[in-house]
Amino acid sequence: MAIFKKTKDVELVLPTHIAIIMDGNGRWAKNRALPRTAGHAAGSKTFKDIARYCNKIGLKYLTVYAFSTENWKRPKEEVDNIMKIFKEYLEDTKSFKDENIQLQFIGDRSALDEEIQRLMAECEKESAGSTGLHLNIAINYGGRDEIVHAVKQIVAEGIDANDITEQMISDKLYTSGQPDPDFIIRPSGEYRLSNYLIWQSAYAEYWFSDILWPDFKPSDLDKAIEDYNKRNRRFGGV
Ligand code: IPE
Ligand code: IPE
Ligand code: MG
Repeated sequence: MAIFKKTKDVELVLPTHIAIIMDGNGRWAKNRALPRTAGHAAGSKTFKDIARYCNKIGLKYLTVYAFSTENWKRPKEEVDNIMKIFKEYLEDTKSFKDENIQLQFIGDRSALDEEIQRLMAECEKESAGSTGLHLNIAINYGGRDEIVHAVKQIVAEGIDANDITEQMISDKLYTSGQPDPDFIIRPSGEYRLSNYLIWQSAYAEYWFSDILWPDFKPSDLDKAIEDYNKRNRRFGGV
C-alpha cells in the first residue's frame, strides 16, 4: 500500500483507486451569472489540476465521471459544448504524455463523434506505455449500460448460466483487470451515485462535500484522503 503522507505521529495510506463524480459546474457558473458552458470550462481546468496532483502523489488509479449516458437529456448546445471541451483535451496530447499518465476511456464510445473516437483511440495508444497514474475518463458512461454490455458478451460467448461468476462479470466491464474503486468522491452537495460504477463500488468508501467541482482543490483531496484513513473497511467481516 502506498503511503500518502506522514503527519506528526501517523502515516496516511493512499487508496489504490479513487473515483470522482465531477459535479457542480452548472451551479458554479450560475453563482457567477455566467453561462453553464463557463462552468464546464472551469471544471475541465480543475480536472487537469486534480489528475496532475493524483499522479504527483503516486495514486495508481483515478476514474473521473465526465459525461453520463443520461447527460444526453441536456440541451444540445450544452452537450455540444461538453464534447468540444473533451475534444480540445484530447488534442492537447502534451497534458498526459509529458506526465507519464496512462489514459483509458470507459463508456459506450460508439455514440460519440467519429473524430472524437479516433482521438480517443490515439490517446490510449500513445499513452499505453506510461507507468504513472492510470486515468480512466468515463464518457457516455452508465453503470447499468455497462452491466448490460457485459451480460450481452457473456451470452454471445454461449457461456452456460451455471458457469457465470462475479469475476466473469467484472472481467467484461470497461474496467476489466483494474482494482475496484476504494474511495468515491462526490462534490456539489448531492448524495447519490448517478449510475456511476455501480458494480465496482459495492464496497467503496464514500466522501461527499458541498464544494462545487470547479472550486475543488488538491487540498480538498488531501482532506478526503485523511478522512478515508479514519474508515474501518470490514468487507462483511468483523
Ligand atoms: C457536472 O456538472 C458536469 C456534467 C454532468 C457533464 P453539472 O453540469 O451537472 O453541474 P450542476 O450539477 O448543474 O451544477
Ligand atoms: C453525474 O452528474 C454525471 C457527471 C458528473 C458526468 P449529473 O449532474 O448528471 O447527475 P444528477 O443528474 O444530478 O444525478
Ligand atoms: Mg450535476
